[in-house]
Amino acid sequence: MSINYAEKIPNNVDLANDRTLQRALEHWQPHFLEWWHEMGPSDFEKADVYLRTATSVDAQGWASYGAVKMPDYRWGIFLADQTPGRTIGFGDRMGEPVWQQVPGEHRSTLRRLIVTQGDTEPASVEQQRLLGHLCPSLYDLRNLFQINVEEGRHLWAMVYLLHAYFGRDGREEAEELLARHSGDADKPRILTTFNEPISDWLSLYCFTYFTDRDGKYQLKSFAESAFDPLSRTCRFMLTEEAHHMFVGETGIGRVVKRTLEVMKELGSDDPVKIRAHGAVDLPLLQKYLNFWCSSSLDLFGSEISSNAATSFASGLKGRPDESQYQDHVLRDVVLKLDTPEGAQDVPMLNALNEVMRESYLKDCEIGLKRWNRAIERAGHDFRLTLPSSRFRRAIGSWVGLPVDPTGKLLPKQEYERRLHEWIPSNDDRAFVRSLMQKVTEPGKMAAWIAPPDRGINNLPLDYEYVHLA
Ligand SMILES: [Fe+2]
Ligand SMILES: [Fe+2]
Repeated sequence: MSINYAEKIPNNVDLANDRTLQRALEHWQPHFLEWWHEMGPSDFEKADVYLRTATSVDAQGWASYGAVKMPDYRWGIFLADQTPGRTIGFGDRMGEPVWQQVPGEHRSTLRRLIVTQGDTEPASVEQQRLLGHLCPSLYDLRNLFQINVEEGRHLWAMVYLLHAYFGRDGREEAEELLARHSGDADKPRILTTFNEPISDWLSLYCFTYFTDRDGKYQLKSFAESAFDPLSRTCRFMLTEEAHHMFVGETGIGRVVKRTLEVMKELGSDDPVKIRAHGAVDLPLLQKYLNFWCSSSLDLFGSEISSNAATSFASGLKGRPDESQYQDHVLRDVVLKLDTPEGAQDVPMLNALNEVMRESYLKDCEIGLKRWNRAIERAGHDFRLTLPSSRFRRAIGSWVGLPVDPTGKLLPKQEYERRLHEWIPSNDDRAFVRSLMQKVTEPGKMAAWIAPPDRGINNLPLDYEYVHLA
């Protein structure tokens, strides 16, 4: 069904024919706009931003471009088309028809899963709300705002499910999603990574590379869900999510490129000289990668998890790309897990968070290969790496252990003394912040980052992607 833009809330779920739901969502809408005004990129409400908006969920319509003021963006409810005859693809009820309603016994688990996912969407907008003042170019500023409005829409996607399928509890949860705030002492966001401040663009690129990619993996596992409305919602969100990771991967790639130029100019890889020249030395970039990768790894949960087992067995949450696996029931399989107490055989069902984390890390390698190729071509030995999944864990069997980024257990004192060799120190952060000078002349770039290979939607790089009021 194409998206109906004539209504107050654009949607392709025939909202007009469900008056109660429509009224409930129309009641929530002004609260959302108020939240956007207070917690979103509020100083840019009058700017015209070259944004992409979905007009239908098929390949032709989901990306149409034009100048929009962010508060006028048409946030709405878009689900991927229903797959006729779709059956459950995994777990103990594999092969049965998927559910169009929430089965009573799974109600609270599903609500928790949807709320936890939904909470991350507005959280990231809050984390990024002041970055516009430090943008390295209009091209980047536009990309930031594109991500922000889409995360706002992802909140709508989850709020729709809560309102449509969870009655009064769902409506209360929808209000709470606007009441918690990133980093708030009393009412923080649910997950730690979404309470970390993002106060510079290097962090933004790392966040969109690592944390939005976690989002991709969560959405992919929900896209497999037996609860069909959740699956359809997440399938459409994935088409938008790809751009967020693109911003991260190309952003870090452009930082690497600029640094290599500076190294060549200076004939040196001395971090002190590179910093004095206003660029990000590669060891510093590595610290940012270590920080955001390790923080994002926690989002997958404990290696051994009975919740993960239940969610899978009952059909709520599959593995990303479930159809690529042979066994979809996993009742008689074990996984060998490395724990601090040595190798341990764990029933596969209980180890699914780890399975997901492993495939996530493989996906993370792709960008690193690309960046390292550029470093190698420039004739340097330095290589960027991903930290071990044991490093800096705040959850699971490696929680709080003094492990270095290669995965080696160290004496606690040594670990504490050396921690800032691996993640940014206050001085590192202050230096990166000092680089963040706002550049808003069309086509110009800040000195610490190379221009992108091409503009947006085939437009030239010096196009005025954001017209500041
Ligand atoms: Fe999102
Ligand atoms: Fe995202």
